[in-house]
Amino acid sequence: MSHPSVYPVPASAAKRSLLTNEQYMQMYQQSVSAPDTFWAEHGKRLHWFTPFTKVKNTSFDSGKLNINWFSDGILNASYNCLDRHLPQRADQVAYFWEGDSPDAQKTVTYAELHQQVCKLANGMKELGVGKGDRVTIYLPMIPEATVALLACARIGAVHSVVFAGFSPDALGSRIVDCDSKLVITADQALRGSRVTNLKDNTDMALGHLGETSPVQNVIVVKHVGKNVDMQAGKDGRDVWYHDLLSRQSADCPAEPMSAEDPLFILYTSGSTGKPKGVLHTTGGYMVWASMTHQYVFDYHDGDVYWCAADIGWVTGHTYIVYGPLANGASSVLFEGVPNYPSVKRMAQIVDKYKVNILYTAPTAIRALMAHGDAPVEGAALTSLRTLGSVGEPINPEAWNWYHEKFGKGNCPIVDTWWQTETGGILITPLPGCTELKPGSATRPFFGVQPAIVDNDGKELSGACEGNLVIKDSWPGQMRSIYGDHDRFEQTYFSTYPGLYFTGDGAKRDADGYYWLTGRVDDVLNISGHRLGTAEIESCLVAHDAVAEAAVVGYPHDIKGQGIYVYVTPRVGIEPGAELTKALRDWVREEISPIATPDLIQWAPTGLPKTRSGKIMRRILRKIAANEHDQLGDISTLADPSVVETLVNNRLNRK
Ligand code: WTA
Repeated sequence: MSHPSVYPVPASAAKRSLLTNEQYMQMYQQSVSAPDTFWAEHGKRLHWFTPFTKVKNTSFDSGKLNINWFSDGILNASYNCLDRHLPQRADQVAYFWEGDSPDAQKTVTYAELHQQVCKLANGMKELGVGKGDRVTIYLPMIPEATVALLACARIGAVHSVVFAGFSPDALGSRIVDCDSKLVITADQALRGSRVTNLKDNTDMALGHLGETSPVQNVIVVKHVGKNVDMQAGKDGRDVWYHDLLSRQSADCPAEPMSAEDPLFILYTSGSTGKPKGVLHTTGGYMVWASMTHQYVFDYHDGDVYWCAADIGWVTGHTYIVYGPLANGASSVLFEGVPNYPSVKRMAQIVDKYKVNILYTAPTAIRALMAHGDAPVEGAALTSLRTLGSVGEPINPEAWNWYHEKFGKGNCPIVDTWWQTETGGILITPLPGCTELKPGSATRPFFGVQPAIVDNDGKELSGACEGNLVIKDSWPGQMRSIYGDHDRFEQTYFSTYPGLYFTGDGAKRDADGYYWLTGRVDDVLNISGHRLGTAEIESCLVAHDAVAEAAVVGYPHDIKGQGIYVYVTPRVGIEPGAELTKALRDWVREEISPIATPDLIQWAPTGLPKTRSGKIMRRILRKIAANEHDQLGDISTLADPSVVETLVNNRLNRK
């Protein structure tokens, strides 16, 4: 069946929309031509203990890099998410928690959330944690995770959430990098009935760190009920969450924070080196989180909203915690996975809570789509009004399937482009304003000035394709890499001086719509999760059997990109199925199951290199993509015969 390439705004969406397309255009113009006036107005959506008088003070210029927003304002993120709603919303549900098993659920009201946050905040103070201290959070998708983030924000501690799927080593290195005093974890996590031993992992991480561990205490949530080792006693390291909270007062005034005080660190992969601690501050981030949540989803008071991401990723920070709570929303918080106990789970949750707004990732949509109509059979899905997509480009087939099967052809899909670094959505349709083109993230949000440059940094005009940059600052932008401001400048502002470089490629069509084409650097996007090829390579070469390894992405039907690995074994090592399996397990355990290689090709005769010894990744990508007939010029290689061997033994022959 053929599908239209443009979808007009449905009448129902236009009718309910906060804005018309003309208003969007006008507001956008104002936001870029008079940013101070625009953001002075929209900054008021938060509650400020001391209102700001300064608005935008930013420069991307070389040598003068400076990003400050609302800098003399004083506020608290947790106050904005909780206290100021209590007069009207004390008994309103903040979270409908849906457990991994369909039988497990509970609701948390704004009053209950506020109370728990105050108690945990007081408990953290009892343990000696205060303003500016770092706290690592390693929790499953349970209400306590949202409590933990907000309790940090309440006392001005800086949270660093580590995804519960990460290994002890990945956890340990993130703890050390930001020098965390405290870890908040749980006995176990459950996802699709699979168990992860979070407390054991934490013990292992801290055990490996030994004397160098900065951690003084570990707070443990009893979630699944498993017996875990507690290093208790009088000066013990480990405390149960419920014991700690049971002795705290529910009164904890929110710490007054400067707009530019850090709110959180979140580690993400780059093209080189170890993961970067992306640092976000309080005022600008909160304005961005709440404003984008409202306009991008056309959120109205009373809507039931479900962002199916994990709190371990930035999408969870901004669109499960800070954005929706700042707007007083009722959200679904889901512990499990879309295909457990069956592929109907997502549709069942939508019906169960009468979800109006659903925000998920293309990889989940593709995984369901592979089951035909089964995922939506028997479901009404009549509550849905807006659908969202995030994390990677959404292919038109998946877009159309989502639109028809979940949206019944009547719900706009907002394909939202953004990054950990951007704090919130930058390029996106607005449901009641923007005509949609499947596969396009469409147009910039207020205040965002995207541009496309060629490899020399020359800005291209009209319809074009190249590297996506942003020309000026927006309030939600990251401020630094924790502990390494030079790397921040180097990574984002040195490739194209004066411009923020996203690392993404993009096309712009004649209507000014943006089409993201994927990373142009050595970052992979596996099921919407970011991984650096360098990270996986250094993990592989740490294995005894490996002399050299190169990692590239290749097109994968469900995951968007799969991980293709070329390995040269050490002299005397015989590669085979057993070793292949051992290497897969190695990466899975050292980094995370997300990083597990899909295909491992042995390259005993070596990798293609230039005469100066640089691995030619362009060639490896082509072979992995099964495009070995388009290798281009290989005459500059030190030994062209290596390529022939690799092509002959290639693994992706689709
Ligand atoms: C990719 C996730 C195309 C992109 C919020 C970006 C997308 C990286 C989209 C950031 C989209 C995210 N269309 N590509 N709608 N959304 N990406 O930091 O390559 O985990 O640079 O943030 O995901 O991933 P991150």
